[in-house]
Amino acid sequence: MEKIAFTLNNKPIEIEVDANDILLTVLRSKLGFTGTKYGCGIGYCGACTILVNGEAMRSCTMAVSEIAGQQVTTIEGLAIGDDLHPVQQSFVMNDAQQCGFCTPGMIMNAVGLLNDNPNPSREEIVKGMNDNLCRCGSYNRIADAVESAAKSMNGGTK
Ligand code: FES
Ligand code: FES
Repeated sequence: MEKIAFTLNNKPIEIEVDANDILLTVLRSKLGFTGTKYGCGIGYCGACTILVNGEAMRSCTMAVSEIAGQQVTTIEGLAIGDDLHPVQQSFVMNDAQQCGFCTPGMIMNAVGLLNDNPNPSREEIVKGMNDNLCRCGSYNRIADAVESAAKSMNGGTK
């Protein structure tokens, strides 16, 4: 066991873990942040997507030791108080979820995409979201949500 210090949802944290423990398991089972979902467990579906230093990453294939000293954000850390993040608001407004299982990973991936490219074209949104899977097939509404979130974050009306 060893101590790993990092920032989780803007709060410094230190935990005692096996350095090889999988980050997704630590987040869900040790720290209780169950918003991040376990889908495939092999880096394929995107359900476990989180942000590391603002970049979308898959937590199911990451050893917890990799995030020592880094800034980690989960779906629980996006809202500020009662104010949802614009991407969360946009998913609600666009009805971009059915069962909702893929939604936290989709939202985190979208935030990472918009951090990287604040004004993406529809094609860039589809490409950027393409590796996150939705078994309910909500892809069009998810792309709509990301598109309108980008507009709203850029001062647009939608
Ligand atoms: S659970 Fe991590 S990519 Fe599927
Ligand atoms: S809304 Fe059900 S998996 Fe995407």
